[in-house]
Amino acid sequence: MAPLVLITGAAGLIGRYLLCTAPRWAPQWEVKGLTRQDVDLTDERALRRLWRDLHPHAVIHCAAQSRTGPCQQNPALARRINVDATAFLAELSADIPFLFFSSDQVFDGAKGWYVETDPVNPLNVYGETKAEAERLVLQNPRHSVIRVGLNAGTSPTGDRSFVEDMRNSVKDGTSLTLFTDEFRCPLPAGMTARAIWELIEQNRPSLYHLGGAERLSRWEIGQALTSWYPELRGHIHPGSVESYVGAPRPPDLSMNCAKLQGLLSFPLSGFRAWLAGRTSTGMDLWDYPD
Ligand SMILES: NC(=O)c1ccc[n+]([C@@H]2O[C@H](COP(=O)([O-])OP(=O)(O)OC[C@H]3O[C@@H](n4cnc5c(N)ncnc54)[C@H](OP(=O)(O)O)[C@@H]3O)[C@@H](O)[C@H]2O)c1
Repeated sequence: MAPLVLITGAAGLIGRYLLCTAPRWAPQWEVKGLTRQDVDLTDERALRRLWRDLHPHAVIHCAAQSRTGPCQQNPALARRINVDATAFLAELSADIPFLFFSSDQVFDGAKGWYVETDPVNPLNVYGETKAEAERLVLQNPRHSVIRVGLNAGTSPTGDRSFVEDMRNSVKDGTSLTLFTDEFRCPLPAGMTARAIWELIEQNRPSLYHLGGAERLSRWEIGQALTSWYPELRGHIHPGSVESYVGAPRPPDLSMNCAKLQGLLSFPLSGFRAWLAGRTSTGMDLWDYPD
């Protein structure tokens, strides 16, 4: 019988890509996705029952309150799912590989090109919850933390990735300001999924950074997407993060991913290079694998 891996947050952006790519990248695993409909991850009794029934051999924990705005508005709720539920899942998975999805937002963005050993200093509640959960998860040497950058793709609900956000924003003719002074290392969610499957197969528990190779401003990201989404043209405008009102935003969250890259069989390419390579494939932009 194939070993069973559970994926939490399976109806979210990255969880869905993990499920869809499993037949290609993880055929040796039996893969079961858990959505909110299957179990509320803050329900400890239900989780205990589920673990007893399923006996997973590995867990990939994607579920989270992944938006900075809602975390900032309701820190207690954000903490329940991002910290408490993560800690409980890690406890249930004490004897098996457990991969926790953290975020580049654990950093303050003052420096950029962060390596795994750089000190964390989150600026917003979302980042604080991720940094706290990381500390708890890494107490177990069998467990891993993956800090991921901005992921592109399509989600089941159509409102999870930054690409969907951009397209939804301009739908009714509204103009969208994209910051020229905020930098990220975006990557397609399918590439994230492939890297995770390779990592879980190698079973090298540690703390890893996973992002694209190219550091881009939000404005540069938007411009790169206009050849795929012409509706963005004329509706996206350059601006400064200084005019933003809301949860504090780290300016430069570029990450050095050399540690993980050294374990992978494929390059974590830059976002624009990856987009350019898609022009002739004729498949949906975000389909993966290719
Ligand atoms: N996508 C990115 O660019 C990015 C960047 C950095 C880090 N990350 C991290 O990577 C992980 C995956 O991100 P994602 O983009 O796939 O997130 P996502 O699309 O928001 O998916 C998260 C999923 O978790 C579920 N969930 C939340 N609370 C739950 C609960 N109490 N019980 C059961 N399910 C619950 C959500 O269900 P509902 O929809 O019903 O709430 C959602 O389906 C997250 O930990 C996120 O913080 C993502």
